[in-house]
Amino acid sequence: MDDLKAKYLGQIADAGDENALEAIRVAAVGKKGEVALKMRELGKMTPEERQVAGPALNALKDEINSALAAKKAALADAALDERLRTEWLDVTLPTRARRQGSIHPVSQATEELTAIFAELGFSVAEGPRIETDWHNFDALNIPGHHPARAEMDTFYMHRAEGDNRPPHVLRTHTSPVQIRSMELQGAPIRVICPGGVYRADYDQTHTPMFHQVEGLAIDKDISMANLKWVLEEFVKAFFEVDDVELRFRASHFPFTEPSAEVDIRCSWDNGQLKIGEGDDWMEILGSGMVHPKVIAAGGIDPEVYQGFAFGIGIDRLAMLKYGIPDLRAFFDSDLRWLRHYGFAALDMPNLHGGLSR
Ligand code: DAH
Repeated sequence: MDDLKAKYLGQIADAGDENALEAIRVAAVGKKGEVALKMRELGKMTPEERQVAGPALNALKDEINSALAAKKAALADAALDERLRTEWLDVTLPTRARRQGSIHPVSQATEELTAIFAELGFSVAEGPRIETDWHNFDALNIPGHHPARAEMDTFYMHRAEGDNRPPHVLRTHTSPVQIRSMELQGAPIRVICPGGVYRADYDQTHTPMFHQVEGLAIDKDISMANLKWVLEEFVKAFFEVDDVELRFRASHFPFTEPSAEVDIRCSWDNGQLKIGEGDDWMEILGSGMVHPKVIAAGGIDPEVYQGFAFGIGIDRLAMLKYGIPDLRAFFDSDLRWLRHYGFAALDMPNLHGGLSR
C-alpha cells in the first residue's frame, strides 16, 4: 500500500496537464483502478486482516483523490498565471495609424456634378437598374424594330419558360428615368438621374457596366439655348476652368429632336489624357430637345410643354478630370489604384468650398 501511495502521489506531482491527471485518476481510483482491485481482495482476508486493510485502503483512496483535486487547482492557477503573463497590453504605446477608405473617382465625380446641378435647380431622381423594356426603349421612341435597340448591346433578363412577356433588361442608359420622373412628378420638372448602366462592350474606354447622368428639364418655354447654356455652365464648373472648348455636333437620337452630341477638346499624350488642349475630341454627352412622343409617354401634354434632355458619361468625366487613362481599371477593385486615385472620405464637394480639393 505504501508502494501504491508513493507511485500515484509521485505521478500526480509530475502531471503536466488535466488530461494526464484524468489518466492517473482512472488508473488509481477509477472503477477498475488499482485501489478498487485491492479492495476486491478484502473478501479473501481474515476478519482481523480486513479490519486493518479496509480503513487503510479507504484512507489511501481519499488521499489520492485530494492530491488529484489539489493538483487540478494548481494547474488551473498556473494556466491563469501564464495567460496573465502573455496577454497584456501596454496602453502607453502609440496607436496604429488607422487605415481609411477612400472615395472612388466615380462617386467623387457624381457628388461633384450633383452639387453643380443642384446649384442650377436640378434635383436628383433615381430609377431601377433592372428596367422594363418599355421604359428603356418603347417609351423613349425606340420601337422594337429600331436599329438602336440592337446597337445598345443589351443584356436581357431571363424569363421563365412559357412566360411570353417581353424580358426586362439591364438598363442600357439612364434615359428611362426621364419617363419615370415625368410619370411621378408631372410638369414642370428639372431633374438629374445619375446611376449605373449596362452594355455588352469592353475596351479601353468601354466597360459592361458604367455610369451616366441623365438631365431633364420640362417647362413651357424651354429652348435649345437653355440646353447649351446649362451644359456650358456645367462643364466649366466641373472642370474648374473659365473656358472649355466644346463642340456641339448635330446628331440623332430617337428620343430627341433636334439632337446634338457634345465633344470636349483633349489630347492623349503618352497615355496621359488632358482636357482643354490638343487635337483630339472626346465625346462626353448626347442631348437634344425631348421628342414630343417621349413627353407624351411620360404622361405630359407635348402641346403645352417642351424641354431638353442630356445624357453624360460620368466615368468619362472622371477620366478626363483626373487624367485616368484606362476605364477598365475603374472596376478592378485594385487597392493600390483606389488609394492612388481615391478621394478623402470626409470631403463633401460643394461649389463654395471647392469641388475637388
Ligand atoms: N441615352 C443616350 C445614350 O446612352 C444618351 C442621351 C442622348 C441621353 C441624348 C439624352 C439625350 O437624354 O437627350 O447614348
